[in-house]
Formats: sequence, C-alpha cells, structure tokens
Amino acid sequence: MTQLQFRIEHTEDYNVLEELFIKSGIEVGNEPIVTEKLKCWKAVHDHGGVGTLIGGAILGKRGAYYVVDGIAVEPEYRKMKIGTIMLDKLVEYAKEIGIKKLWLMAKAPGFFKNYGFATVKREDAPNIFGCFNCDRYGKDCKPEPMVLDL
Ligand SMILES: CC(C)(COP(=O)(O)OP(=O)(O)OC[C@H]1O[C@@H](n2cnc3c(N)ncnc32)[C@H](O)[C@@H]1OP(=O)(O)O)[C@@H](O)C(=O)NCCC(=O)NCCS
Repeated sequence: MTQLQFRIEHTEDYNVLEELFIKSGIEVGNEPIVTEKLKCWKAVHDHGGVGTLIGGAILGKRGAYYVVDGIAVEPEYRKMKIGTIMLDKLVEYAKEIGIKKLWLMAKAPGFFKNYGFATVKREDAPNIFGCFNCDRYGKDCKPEPMVLDL
C-alpha cells in the first residue's frame, strides 16, 4: 500500500478552514466572546501535482482563555493520525508561547480523551463556549467541555 503523502503547514486562510469545520458539523461563530485567531494549520494531500485541503486546526484566544477553536479532517482521511499530528503542532506552538491550559468544547470527546484532555463539569468550565447558550445543549447535543494542562 502506498503511504499517504500529506503535509501540515501554517495558513492564514481562515475562511477555507471554517468551510471545512462547518461541513464537519462544528458550529462556527456562536461563541459569546470574540475569538482571536492566534495560529492556523492546514493539512494538504499532495497527489499528482495537486494539493487538496484535507484538514485544519485553529488555536484561538477567548478573553483570558486559550482554545482549540476548531479541528477537522475530511471524512475519507480520518483515522490516519492526521488529526493527532495537527493537534501536536498546535500544542507544540501553544507551549512555545507559554500557554498553560488549552480548552475546547468536544463533539468528539473520544479523540481528545485519547490525546490527554480531561472532561470538566459545566460549572467548572469558563463561559467561553456558545454551546452553553444553545437550546440543544445537554438534550440532543452533548458536547463535553475539556481541558489539557500543558
Ligand atoms: C476528531 C477528528 C479531527 C479526528 O481526526 P483523525 O485524523 O481521524 O484522528 P486520528 O487518526 O489522529 O485519531 C487518533 C486516535 O483517536 C481516535 N479517534 C479519532 N476520532 C475519534 C472519535 N470521533 N471518537 C473516538 N475516538 C476517535 C482514533 O481511533 C485514534 O485512536 P488510536 O490512537 O487508539 O488509534 C476527526 O474525526 C473529525 O474531523 N471529526 C469531525 C469534526 C469534529 O468533531 N472535530 C472536533 C470538534 S470538537
């Protein structure tokens, strides 16, 4: 079997990442507080001279808190460690700039638990997630607030 050729690099094209996030079922722009985008990464599959966007991740800041503002991999490229490698880059950079805690609202808690994030109770999480204000939260949609100590 040929190894998948992909690269992960910094991008400033937030719009294309947001399109991928929305397509992947991530809510975008519902946060109660503005997100400052600190750094974004894209995963690109190189094939036949063409580069196809297959994943993306954003490190953001909401008030005093640092967040994984989104991470997604195109369905046909999942379970190939692309998500883990992007998160590694994000965490490595977060450490470099002195971030101590990374927060997120996990729609896929299994992936983040596997990585080392821990679920926290609603009341122990900062009020930086739009999900907390959503009618569906805890009913037909059960994302988990999670944190990683760096
Ligand atoms: C979550 C996501 C980014 C993971 O990307 P990925 O490239 O498939 O993940 P990896 O291949 O690096 O997986 C790493 C490990 O996590 C596990 N994992 C991946 N997705 C998982 C999920 N949804 N639930 C539970 N475990 C999962 C993998 O099985 C693998 O386990 P292993 O180390 O025991 O083999 C991807 O599934 C995705 O884009 N999902 C839709 C968008 C989304 O929910 N993003 C998160 C929003 S908070």
